[in-house]
Amino acid sequence: MTVEPFGELAVALSDSAVRAVFADPRFSRSATFTGGGTTLNAGMGQWGASGMDGPEHLAIRRGLSAGATAEVLVAKRQEFEDLADRLIATVCSGDGHFELNAAIAEPFAVQCLGIILGTDLGDPRRLRRAVDATVAIEGAEAEELEHAVRTLTMVCLRAAAGGAAGQNGDGLIPRMLQQLGDDRATRRLIAHNVLPYVVGGIENPFVAIGASLIGLLESAEARTTVRAEPERVAAVVDELLRLHPTGLMSFARAPMEDVELAGVTIAAGTPVVPMIGPANRDPVRYENPDTFSLARPPSRHLSFGWGPHFCVGEQLGRLQLELLLPRLVRRLPGLRLSVQRSELVKRTGHIVDGYDPIPLAWGR
Ligand code: HEM
Repeated sequence: MTVEPFGELAVALSDSAVRAVFADPRFSRSATFTGGGTTLNAGMGQWGASGMDGPEHLAIRRGLSAGATAEVLVAKRQEFEDLADRLIATVCSGDGHFELNAAIAEPFAVQCLGIILGTDLGDPRRLRRAVDATVAIEGAEAEELEHAVRTLTMVCLRAAAGGAAGQNGDGLIPRMLQQLGDDRATRRLIAHNVLPYVVGGIENPFVAIGASLIGLLESAEARTTVRAEPERVAAVVDELLRLHPTGLMSFARAPMEDVELAGVTIAAGTPVVPMIGPANRDPVRYENPDTFSLARPPSRHLSFGWGPHFCVGEQLGRLQLELLLPRLVRRLPGLRLSVQRSELVKRTGHIVDGYDPIPLAWGR
């Protein structure tokens, strides 16, 4: 298939094909940084874990995986809960109307990541705008992208410098500095590797909060369960994530040799786009795939990827939704969209898409 301006590319649509593209070692991430496929990487350079393969990828990934482990999340849970409570209290003191992204999703995503990194990431709006430009496949001007990468680099360098000066408590960056040394070159290396973590760790939760809440408001079963059965909140969140992944697609991979995928031969070097959205609703794997249902067996859907690049922030992403969604429906009775569902604007042309703005109302 030829699609300008990408040249030759293939898309993987079924659950099994997407899983193969994510996990088969013949598919390479770094091979997509040449030719037309480069466009599919949006503004994400080949920095950090997500653009690499093999041992080099593993080494960086190992360092980043220490950021949001189960142990860290237990230790930091109260801080996340306090943050959620503060943001919702501000909404409660308002006039019954609010915009979800500005009031909750953006500050919650940015400040939770700051807690994990051990640094104050500054103005959530400014930072997320920069993040947004790096995940835009279409529409971001070269100058805007350059500015965004500079902003993010400065934030990461400042975080590393603060960590070296002992200002940042016990987050990921101070721990990396302790392990690797805190000279100038190491700080630059850490900032370089942490940058994609900042992008993924802000944009995905930001979008997931909006997409999951909209999904929740659409499903009476999801709403009632979240309100009344705290022990089933994790299952609700999992099903919402299956139905509403943060991006329909994920980063392309290119096979290093000719590969047969779902009966089609993909020539070496051809970028293949794993389509998470369709795969998560593959009727071969899911009965009534478009329906929210808690009766399904546990599914291991693909919203956090699969294989060697599987999301290193999965547990944090789930926890953020598990903390926020029940609080929102319990503390804001009558929570609803304040526009028709069809009027919501979905960002397109981004690796991570999602709705922006999301106007909501609550009360009578
Ligand atoms: C609901 C929230 C989240 C969703 C849906 C999500 C989704 C994903 C997906 C689909 C991938 C795989 C991309 C690919 O292989 O092409 C990924 C990778 C990644 N995610 Fe997440 N993510 C979330 C939260 C987070 C958080 C909170 C962090 C950081 C704290 C994070 C950091 C990363 C990193 C660094 C990678 C690259 C891993 C690698 O290449 O080895 N993500 N994420």
